[in-house]
Amino acid sequence: MFSHVEPYAGDPILGLMEKFAQDDRPNKVNLGVGIYYDDSGKIPVLNAVRKSEERVFAAHAPVSYLPMEGDRTYRNLVARLLFGSEAAPSSESLAMVQSLGGSGALKVGADFLKHYYADSTVHVSDPTWDNHIGIFEGAGFTVGRYRYYNSTTKGLDFNGMLEDLRGLKQRDIVLLHPCCHNPTGVDPDQEQWQKILDVVEERNLIPFVDIAYQGFAESLTLDAFVVRELARRQRNFLVSNSFSKIFSLYGERVGALTVHCADSTQTANVLGQLKFNVRRNYSNPPTHGMRLISGVLSDEALYKQWVGELDAMRLRIAEMRQRLHASLSAAVPGRSFEHIVKQRGMFAYTGLSATEVAMLQSDFGVYAVASGRISVAGLNSNNVDYVAEAFARVIK
Ligand code: LMR
Repeated sequence: MFSHVEPYAGDPILGLMEKFAQDDRPNKVNLGVGIYYDDSGKIPVLNAVRKSEERVFAAHAPVSYLPMEGDRTYRNLVARLLFGSEAAPSSESLAMVQSLGGSGALKVGADFLKHYYADSTVHVSDPTWDNHIGIFEGAGFTVGRYRYYNSTTKGLDFNGMLEDLRGLKQRDIVLLHPCCHNPTGVDPDQEQWQKILDVVEERNLIPFVDIAYQGFAESLTLDAFVVRELARRQRNFLVSNSFSKIFSLYGERVGALTVHCADSTQTANVLGQLKFNVRRNYSNPPTHGMRLISGVLSDEALYKQWVGELDAMRLRIAEMRQRLHASLSAAVPGRSFEHIVKQRGMFAYTGLSATEVAMLQSDFGVYAVASGRISVAGLNSNNVDYVAEAFARVIK
């Protein structure tokens, strides 16, 4: 009955995790998947989360089914984090569901949009996170690309991006990374964003903003600029957010999908349709991770502690960029590695070819994505010089 089932080629990112786990070289380095490791190479359990977890255990609360849309308090806390506590749009305009990480939010949003905008095309940046394409194609959309990355400057192709967005059909869906672009680490500045959002508005495109790294570029507030600006412009748009990285809670699968609507009737109807999609896919979201995060976001002291820990993660990544840049510049004189310090967030787009990446893995046990993306958060004071040396050997 299943003899015609083809083998799975594997996922370009998660497949690397499996391969890395099987590698028994002691000096192997995981720069593949976007996971934050601390300077001793461990995935941190944040102190704010640990304290929140102690309270969750002490409360011994029953674990009933959550509503299809998730926990109400959690959703209000997420709205404050995304939209800011002062200028936040009223909950009357936010249709929000708690989701299974950012991927779950994207999938519920994609299914919702496919129902109401069946003929729209989804446009993602070239390049983007591979699974953006997978999720939207999986929901039945054709996925196009808009220019984004300039491989010569290793920066933003701003004019190309605007030109491509101007050429899209009305009500096409445009996937935007508001900060810490995955995989390139190249972000527009606020002035450029204003121009991008002007085009989105002129062309009547449907913005879908995917924010998985709020706080990893500059701060919780500055990194939410695009989300808040779209709300200020009173646009209809969708936001998927993930807490995997910024709370170091990958396996808990906690995030949210928010649809910013025009009025309370729209909001109620949209929320109803999101619930309908949730019910058909997985009925309702899990409790534990949501409780951990709500416990932090709702308590002033724990919130402050978490922001401090988030700042420390961001600063460590920035320091690793500097260290890699310095070691590489010394190892390969005459070649510029400026882009490594200019790009932001968890990832750097090194410009290494797929062949060079394959050599890094086979000869040095250094794992990166075939596109040349590295997770800078996998570097630490013990392995950064080794990685720079490995890079220098493969690019020479
Ligand atoms: C990544 O880009 O490495 C992460 O977002 C993990 C994933 O699910 O791909």
